[in-house]
Amino acid sequence: MGLPRRPLGLIARYGKYLPVSEKTPGLTLGEGSTPLVPAPYFSALVGADVHLKLEGLNPTGSFKDRGMFLAMAKAVESGSRAVVCASTGNTSASAAAYAAKAGLACYVLVPDGNIAMGKLAQACVLGARVFAVDGNFDEALDLVRELGEKRRVTIVNSINPYRIEGQKTAGFELCEDLGDAPDFHFLPVGNAGNITAYWKGFNEARTHGMSTRLPRMFGYQAAGASPIVLGARVLKPMTLATAIKIGNPASWKTALSARDESGGEIDSVTDDEIVGAYQLLAAKEGVFCEPASAAGVAGLLKAFRAGKVPRGAVITCTLTGNGLKDPDIAIKHSPLPVKVKATYASLEAAIGEMP
Ligand code: F0G
Repeated sequence: MGLPRRPLGLIARYGKYLPVSEKTPGLTLGEGSTPLVPAPYFSALVGADVHLKLEGLNPTGSFKDRGMFLAMAKAVESGSRAVVCASTGNTSASAAAYAAKAGLACYVLVPDGNIAMGKLAQACVLGARVFAVDGNFDEALDLVRELGEKRRVTIVNSINPYRIEGQKTAGFELCEDLGDAPDFHFLPVGNAGNITAYWKGFNEARTHGMSTRLPRMFGYQAAGASPIVLGARVLKPMTLATAIKIGNPASWKTALSARDESGGEIDSVTDDEIVGAYQLLAAKEGVFCEPASAAGVAGLLKAFRAGKVPRGAVITCTLTGNGLKDPDIAIKHSPLPVKVKATYASLEAAIGEMP
């Protein structure tokens, strides 16, 4: 069996900038190094140079893998036997995968009925013990914090600092791929770990000579789940973008720091705006992301309409998760298949004019 020709994963690529030692196991599923793809349609639309960071191409289909490999490796290093997280879906899928590989027991708490089917399938197949909580994400996270205090189990939500450390590598990659930091970075905001991690990453990238400047951070919550925008906890968050259906973000304060230190914004976009961006991404750029991921691009369009996007600016948008995660929303917002008989005449009639 030959060794891979290219070193795999984020320890290999950025280990020297991460809190790892010889004692840290080299746990990887090949996370990171995701494509940064130019977006000609959106570039023309907003008169800027727009690029999409396709985080849905990580091993479990979301950006969570960047931080999870490290949180899990550190859990193993510290002698932990079990991990737990609350999740709107992607964290649980990622935790289940890395726990399986590391040989740890994995417990996940998800809001009952409010998690996309692909994510639930992942957690179940990957062997996590899944608990469907009769409550929302914020209540599930409170339970996880209590469990973490009372039982010998490592919490792998983004309140675990290793998650943020791993996720900061996305900022490194953007700077390396562009040759410098972008002018603006757009992304969705839920529990606010990712905006915190990107800001840390962009700052460290400059320190490490990967960039000469810092971007302005523009984060977007869903309008029905926008505590940071409102300045108050939302008790009953509402949005079709279940990944960011969060009313009391754990990293609220550090998200405000990222916004204020970078001269950026945290604003909200409606579900209609999210679906609009989701459909445009698919139809015009060929990118199928999950609804929450489109919130950043919906935010770009909103910021453009408000005159906040200078001509020619270099803009990056993180698309946080793969569209396959949420097949129900995909089907609900797309034309249904046309049924045809298995005859050429039936097909011909159904197709009609071709371009
Ligand atoms: N996009 C997707 C696809 C997500 O799954 C999440 C968060 C976010 C954006 C927001 O990132 O929380 O760092 O601000 N998902 C978490 C989960 C909450 O449990 O999978 P954030």
